[in-house]
Amino acid sequence: MDQGSPKDIFQKCTTFEEANKVRQLGVYPYFRSIEETRGNEVVCHGQTKIMIGSNNYLGLAQDPRVIEAACDAARKYGSGCTGSRFLNGNIRLHEQLEEELALFVQKEAVLLFSTGFFVNQGVLATLLEDGDAILCDRENHASILDGCKQSAAKTIPFAHNSADALRRRLERLPSTAGKLLIVDGVFSMSGDIVDLPAMAKVAKEYGCRIYVDEAHSLGVLGPKGEGTVHHFGMNQDVDLTMGTFSKSLGSMGGFIAGPDYVIDYLKHKARCFMFTASLAPAVAGGVLKALQILKQEPELMESLWKNTRKMHEGFKSLGFRIGTTQTPIVPILIGSEVKAFIFAQKLYEAGIFATPAVFPAVRYGEAIIRTSYMTTHTDSELDYVLETFGRLGRELGVFEEAAYTGSTKKNGYDFSSVQLQDVEGLRKSAGEDTSTGSAMGAPVPR
Ligand SMILES: Cc1ncc(COP(=O)(O)O)c(C=O)c1O
Repeated sequence: MDQGSPKDIFQKCTTFEEANKVRQLGVYPYFRSIEETRGNEVVCHGQTKIMIGSNNYLGLAQDPRVIEAACDAARKYGSGCTGSRFLNGNIRLHEQLEEELALFVQKEAVLLFSTGFFVNQGVLATLLEDGDAILCDRENHASILDGCKQSAAKTIPFAHNSADALRRRLERLPSTAGKLLIVDGVFSMSGDIVDLPAMAKVAKEYGCRIYVDEAHSLGVLGPKGEGTVHHFGMNQDVDLTMGTFSKSLGSMGGFIAGPDYVIDYLKHKARCFMFTASLAPAVAGGVLKALQILKQEPELMESLWKNTRKMHEGFKSLGFRIGTTQTPIVPILIGSEVKAFIFAQKLYEAGIFATPAVFPAVRYGEAIIRTSYMTTHTDSELDYVLETFGRLGRELGVFEEAAYTGSTKKNGYDFSSVQLQDVEGLRKSAGEDTSTGSAMGAPVPR
């Protein structure tokens, strides 16, 4: 028997350097500490920043009526449920929220989960079995990919938003296999809307059930904000829809909606529903109020779309590429990963909070700043955002990036080869006096 010393499972942590390398370069954009939130602004290091990096599309996370309802629920039931719905943690507010959501999305029944992530993970792991197949768009959210991994079924990825690619995959599967098509209604990085009419048509030809993730479409698409499925008038064609409370409804948690008998099965079998504490009363109370406001105030969605159109047009007229977005998620193509980190840092210094997405979240050499807009953003805030992006785009030479010019030159995301001088060089070329250190805290014009 081999008597060698055991492998240290922490070894990979000691050699993990990516984050430190970016920190050393002074452009680390993650885990920024927010000291206070004031409407559309956050306070970091005592400085206000306009938030264009949240999913709080309707601004309801700061709505005083939602906050009051959350406080009322906490006063009535306490700060937590201290147990699973299954056992001691089932409060009337959970049931009321499920009933109202089922009416809203027009499905027979709804089941709440403690996060949207758990919904995708739990539903996929519970419903799909050995021998089944999950047809999964390549740009689906990580929670879907993890759900696929946890299920015993075979995952079959297909090219993003392509009904033809879906058909080619389905053609090769045995006709007797259980099949599920799962897609994001709105894709979280690119902001594009799934081509549901084409996808559903193909899926139906092959007897494939359909599941749509409405995380970024609830409160955004559909006549009353019911989501993508209602936007296309296809509720009858889709078997299951999921939504999160962590975006338009301004809180946390999620739900699955579908036929009564499927929801009842999940209630008794989905492990990440059964073996975790239920939604805190404040969360359930706040979400219920947010849903009621969404239903009663269509003007919230109207302003969101007005702001969205302004930003799509604004970025395009400045020369930025924003991909195929059709929604308030607006990815701004920067190009090289290093430049995207510097761009995000300079935005932050100019009083704008947005984060970059780099390889592997997006294609190599096509790093973006992911921005998203809210009902509550004012014209002057949005004008300032556009003006600042335009200025930084020119100063940092974004429009000369390979991603824009189509040249084959790769700018690379190899931080082991990037030196502090490179970052300083870029800052200097952007007209910054690097000898005086960072311009952190530059005032934001109003
Ligand atoms: C498409 C999609 N689905 C699911 C989730 C998970 O939602 P939650 O934040 O509620 O866990 C997200 C979160 O970003 C998402 O973008």
